[in-house]
Amino acid sequence: MLTNKRILLIIGGGIAAFKALDLIRRLRERGAHVRCVLTPAATHFVTPLSVAALSGDKVYQDLFSLTDEAEMGHIELSRDADLLAIVPATADLLAKLATGQANDLASTLLLATDKKVVAAPAMNLRMWLHPATKRNVAQLREDGVMFVGPVDGSMACGEYGPGRMSEPLEIVAAITEALKSDTSIPLPANVGQFAQSLRGKRVVVTSGPTHEPIDPVRYIANRSSGRQGHAIALAAANAGAEVTLVSGPVTIDDPAGVHTVHIETAQEMLHAVEAALPADIFIAAAAVADWHAATQNANKMKKGETAPVLQLAENPDILATVAGLATDRPALVIGFAAETQSVIENAQKKLAKKKCDVIIANDVGAGTDVMGGLENTVHIVTKAGVETWPKMEKSAVASRLIGLLGDMLERRS
Ligand code: C5P
Repeated sequence: MLTNKRILLIIGGGIAAFKALDLIRRLRERGAHVRCVLTPAATHFVTPLSVAALSGDKVYQDLFSLTDEAEMGHIELSRDADLLAIVPATADLLAKLATGQANDLASTLLLATDKKVVAAPAMNLRMWLHPATKRNVAQLREDGVMFVGPVDGSMACGEYGPGRMSEPLEIVAAITEALKSDTSIPLPANVGQFAQSLRGKRVVVTSGPTHEPIDPVRYIANRSSGRQGHAIALAAANAGAEVTLVSGPVTIDDPAGVHTVHIETAQEMLHAVEAALPADIFIAAAAVADWHAATQNANKMKKGETAPVLQLAENPDILATVAGLATDRPALVIGFAAETQSVIENAQKKLAKKKCDVIIANDVGAGTDVMGGLENTVHIVTKAGVETWPKMEKSAVASRLIGLLGDMLERRS
C-alpha cells in the first residue's frame, strides 16, 4: 500500500519526536518516500542530521531559506506529497492549523496543502484535556484532519492519562488507511479548470500607451496605465500559458512569469508583436496612438513667433494586421474598444472591420475613471452577441476573460 507513496512528515517539538525516527524507518521499509520538516522546537529533541540520514533526503526547516526555495518552493514541497503526517502533533501545531496560521514552514505547508493530513498528537494530559485543545481538535476533525491517538499511558512528566503518542506501527496503519481513498481535497471546479485552461498555449498581449516622438523631448501619448493588459498577461500565465507581453511606457511592474518586451512607438510595438508570433491567442489591450508625427525633429523645436503646425501620419493598426494574417493567424484575436459614445454599436463595427473574434468594449468617457483606474465595466462583443459583465477590478476582468478564452479555444479544437 505504501510503495512509492510520498509522505511529508512534519516533526513537532515534543519528547515523542524520537518515535518519529522509528516511523521514518517503518515507512521506508514499506516502500514509501519520506521527506521531513522539523519545527524549530523539534530540533531540541532530534537532530536534522539523524532525520536526514534515516529519511535519505534533505531536511527542511526554514520558511525563508533562499536555497530551499530555489530548489523546491514551499508550496511545491507541500503539493508534491501524497499525504502529510504530523508526528508528534503538539498542542501548538494543532492550534496553528485549527486557526489557519502560517508563520513558519510547518504551519505554512499544512495550510498550503490539498492532501490529507494525519496527526498523531502527543502532549501532557492536561494540555490534551484543555478546552482550547479540545476545540482545536474538534475543528480539525471537521476540516478533515485524521487523528491517530493519543493513547493512555505514563508520560515523561510523570503523570498518567491520555496524551501519549501512538506507536509508530499504529501511525503507519493510520497513514495506510488514509491513503486508501483519494487523498487530494478538490479545489472548487472553476479554480482547478482555470489553472490548467491555457497549458501549452502561446499568448501575446499588448498593453499600455505608445509614445510617438515629436522631437527629442516631446511626444504624443495617452492616459493608458497598462493595468488591464498587464493583468491579462498575468492571468494567462497563471492559467499555464507561455506569455509575451509587449508593453508601451508604463509605471507598473512587469507581471511575474511573463516575458515582457518594452517598446515606445506603435511601429516598435508592431515589430515586437510580429517577432513574438506565432501564437494561439493575441490580445490587443494597448492604447496604440493612431498617429505619429510625420516629420521628426532631430533637435528640440524652438519657440518662435508662430506656433508650429504638427503634421500627423497614420500608425500601423497592429490588431487589424494580426487578425488579417494569411498564414499563422492566431486562433483567437481579441481587441479592445475604448469608446466615449455608442459603445456597443461601435464595438460591433470594430469587430467586423478589424476581423477579430472578440471585442471587449468599455466606456472611457469623462467620469468613468476607467483609463488609469483600477476597475472596469466591459461588454464582451462577439459575432454571437453581447455579454455585459458587472463592474469589477481589472484583475477580475482578466481572470474571467482568460477563462472565457480557454473555453473558446477548447470548443474550436
Ligand atoms: O481603432 P481603435 O484604436 O479604437 O481600436 C482599438 C483596438 O485596436 C485595441 O485593441 C487596440 O489595442 C488596437 N489597435 C492596434 N493598433 C492601432 C490602433 C489600435 O492594435 N494602431
